[in-house]
Formats: sequence, C-alpha cells, structure tokens
Amino acid sequence: MRLTRNVLLGVTGSIAAYKSAHLVRELVKAGANVQVVMTPAAHDFVTPLTLATLSKRPVLTHMIDRSGEGTWNDHVHLARWADLLLVAPASANTLSKMVQGQCDNLLMACFLSATCPVYVAPAMDLEMYKDPSTLANIAVLKARGVMAIGPDSGELASGLEGQGRMTEPEAMVPFLVSDLMQGSKLAGKRVLITAGGTQEALDPVRYIGNRSSGKMGFALAEEAAARGAQVELVTGPVTINTDRPGITRIDVTSAADMAMVCDRIAPSTDIIVMAAAVADHTPKKPSDHKIKEKETSMLVELEPTVDILKGLGLRKAPHQRIVGFALETHDALANAQSKLERKNLDMIVLNSLSDPGAGFGHDTNKVTLLTPGTDPVQLPLMSKARTAAAILDHLEKLMPNA
Ligand code: CTP
Repeated sequence: MRLTRNVLLGVTGSIAAYKSAHLVRELVKAGANVQVVMTPAAHDFVTPLTLATLSKRPVLTHMIDRSGEGTWNDHVHLARWADLLLVAPASANTLSKMVQGQCDNLLMACFLSATCPVYVAPAMDLEMYKDPSTLANIAVLKARGVMAIGPDSGELASGLEGQGRMTEPEAMVPFLVSDLMQGSKLAGKRVLITAGGTQEALDPVRYIGNRSSGKMGFALAEEAAARGAQVELVTGPVTINTDRPGITRIDVTSAADMAMVCDRIAPSTDIIVMAAAVADHTPKKPSDHKIKEKETSMLVELEPTVDILKGLGLRKAPHQRIVGFALETHDALANAQSKLERKNLDMIVLNSLSDPGAGFGHDTNKVTLLTPGTDPVQLPLMSKARTAAAILDHLEKLMPNA
C-alpha cells in the first residue's frame, strides 16, 4: 500500500528524533513527498542535513530563514500543501504547546494553520509520559481530532523500562496508510479499470497496436486497491505486473475482447475508469494464414470497433461514476469537454501530448481533469502513481457520501 501524499513531518526535541531519519526513508519509500519541519530543540538530537538529504528537500525550522537574504517560510502555504501533518517524535513540550495553541516556532504555526489530518507520535521517558499533565494534553488533543500513534512500551533511552518509546517507523507508516485509506469513499467499492493498448489482428502473427505501456491504468488500479476498493483490472498485452492484493487481473487482446469483458463486469461495479488505449479501428477480415512476403502491396480494410466507454456511459446506473481518458491533438479542452458530454461521463482525464515526460511509456504524466460544470483542473507533471492518487482524490469528490 502506498502513502501517495504530501506529508509535513514535524520533528521535535526528543531523543527519539534519531529515528526520524528512518521514518523519512519509510515515508518516502511508501510514496510520500516529505517536508521536514524541525523545532529548534530537535537540532540537538539529529542534524537537518541528514533529514534534508533523505527527504530531498531543505529542512525548515524558523519562520524566517536568515542564513541568506532572508526567506519567509510561509506556514500557511506549508499547511495547505500538506495532506497529512505528522509530529514524530512529539515531545511533552510540543504536545503542551499544541494544546495551548502557542505559536513560537514554524512547526506550531503550521499546526495551527493545518486543515489536514494531524497525527502525533509521543516519545519521552516513562515518568514524563505518565505525568497527569502529559496524559491530559494527549487526551485534549485526541478530543480535538488529533490522532495519537503510540507510545510503545519497552526499554527507554534512560535505561528504564515502560511506556514512552516512539512507535517504530516500520510500524507507523503502514498504520498511517491504512488509517487514512479507511476514510476513502472507494473502500469496499467495486472498481473496473482498463489499462494498456489493444492489439487488432491482421493475421495469426501480426497486429495493429499502439504504444500504451499500461502504466497509468496499473497505477490507478494500485491506488484504488490501496484505498480499499475491489479492483477488476482489464488489461491489454503489457509487460508490467502488479501483486497488490485487492486487484483481479483479466488479460485481453483486442478491443472486442475488452468490450466483452467490460460489458460483463460493468453492471456490478460502482466506478469505471477507462484508461486503456482501445483501438478505434480493427481489420475487417483478418487473414487466417500468415500473410506471405510476396503479397507486397496490400490494402487492409478497417472497420470501427465498439466504443466501450460510450456504451457504458449511456447505460450508466445512477450510483455509478465513469471516468474516460482523452488524447487530443487540437482544440484539446473543447474536444475533451464535448467527449465528456457525448459519452455521459463524470470525468475526463485529458493527457498532454506536448509535455516532455508525459504520456505513453513514461513513468510520469501531466493531465488535466474535466468534470461537468466546473473549470478544468490542470495537474503538474508528476509520477503516474501520484497522478493516479490525484485522479482518485478528484473522483472521490464526485461520489455520494456513504
Ligand atoms: N475508448 C473506448 N472504446 C473504444 C475507443 C476508446 O472505450 N473503442 C475509450 C478509451 O479507453 C478512452 C476514451 O474512450 O477512455 C477516449 O478515447 P479516444 O480514442 O480519445 O476518443 P474517441 O471517442 O475515439 O474520439 P475521437 O477518436 O473522435 O477523438
């Protein structure tokens, strides 16, 4: 499962800050963008250089960075950027400030500005943790919606045994992923996703195909499964694979095969995402024998394939949400908009043709999301995993509340 999110990681002055380096690595491995904000006291326990190198972003500590010309570290922007604020380790002092709403450092300003879910991982010696003021602070924060992870019991830095250890990063990250995904509207939903390109037979060995790698469709399937959906992934021939639990893969070859499988599965699904590059035309009469070399000049008559997406859109049940993809060479927005309406879709993902790094074969993509009655939303060039997360975030906004 992935944590394809922007994580603002607050590191405070606790000996457990030595685990923050490992925590940053685990978060990055899980797919998160990590921005570290340290309190001044945290600098005594771990170097900003370590955390900056691992997170690939400069570590921020002060509201104003006076090292150069003087840079304003905008807490409002940071808080809006974050999909999740995790304070780990959270010292007794920071927990107390969070309760009081004290705003004497950048981390506290971010906390007070944050509208995203906030998690704290308390870490301190056992007597400090057991002190009624610390327990009361944690209780107040919980009552205000802050989620606490740990602390765990075991050997403490002081040599004492008891509760106060920061939860290990390997345990904390999967907890965050599953906790966040539980809130997804896709949890428990049946989702049909198509991926890859189709192959249209010319003869038993040759076909007309396209350059789709399937990466975007697979990324969507993995992200939907990570959010707790039951995914049926119908894919054309591709060289990639997924072993993510929650995904049932069905391999097809031609547009006709894909149409048959989608028509069978679609009625029992809640969400349909047609990311496949389905051939628009197929040879009318594929040869039943290998076409010989001597047949040098040949005309292949093509006929249109079934428009799978249009059929599903027109038969859409009220609870269903359908997403199509579009690749346009001219008047991209207007054409995509008209496709959205013509095919009765809830969203069109418009692929960029012109941006380097976007589209077929790449690991990155740059898309614009169109939904009926709202302005198009242009996403930046980012990994296909992250693009998939942004598409599904947008889709969730179109889904009815449970
Ligand atoms: N699609 C489909 N069945 C087809 C062809 C395409 O379901 N036979 C789906 C694709 O999966 C994609 C969307 O339709 O989600 C857009 O395909 P595109 O080829 O760009 O659009 P068309 O409707 O074929 O329109 P046009 O070729 O006129 O641009």
